[in-house]
Amino acid sequence: GTSALLSGLHVAITAGPTREAIDPVRYLSNHSSGRMGFALAEAAVALGARVTLISGPVSLATPVGVERIDVISALDMLAAAERVAPHCDWFIGCAAVADYRLARISDHKLKKQSDHGELTLNLIENPDIIATVAARRSPPWTLGFAAETRELAQYAGDKLRRKGLDMIAANDVTAPGVGFGAEDNALTLYHRSDADPEQLASHVLPTRHKRALAEALLRYAHDRYRARQPR
Ligand code: PMT
Repeated sequence: GTSALLSGLHVAITAGPTREAIDPVRYLSNHSSGRMGFALAEAAVALGARVTLISGPVSLATPVGVERIDVISALDMLAAAERVAPHCDWFIGCAAVADYRLARISDHKLKKQSDHGELTLNLIENPDIIATVAARRSPPWTLGFAAETRELAQYAGDKLRRKGLDMIAANDVTAPGVGFGAEDNALTLYHRSDADPEQLASHVLPTRHKRALAEALLRYAHDRYRARQPR
């Protein structure tokens, strides 16, 4: 048979949402199901990679052959990512990490403020996990995701540059039937152009099941990984 495309590569993938505790019974989170990240893990194993999947709280079975690390909050996810990053060749950030966490987690269940009718929560910014990995002295090849509701190219391009990533996969989360929670997805990939690294090149992966899309994404990523410029 043919030798597997990703054999010899260790791929780390973050997936799912993070959960930021408010008090012992409540949290802030988002609608990520983990499906896209788990599909990438399954496809990467099928292509011969060694896979470490760092997953937020989701209700999905671990794909066969995948090493899974379960985390809850963004700070937990960062700690897991920092343990894995020195040992992986690729780092893929598919998780929908909460941008903010509570400045202080209450030790007791918050009581209803009956006289006010409103409640103020103080939030502080979470660290950026994939940017932290990309800023390492010898970083793995990095692929981020961008969930956008408008101006895909501009916002995704900004994130690629700001976070120091090799490639970013943008989804339009307002399009029907794709994105958060859906079975299918569509992605537009952005990376620096070979001819002029100041310019962005893009590549569209049209709508299909997340598992098939994941395989197409990994095949394209492998081409980019091989074409990478030494930094
Ligand atoms: O899980 P599913 O239901 O299948 O849905 C898939 C998805 C829509 C969640 C996925 O395809 C996706 O787009 N994931 C990224 C979602 C997101 O919220 O991205 P962002 O624009 O907030 O972040 C950009 C990039 O930085 C991402 O690679 C993200 O993982 C990373 N990030 C963001 C914030 C942070 N504190 N740390 C990070 O590493």
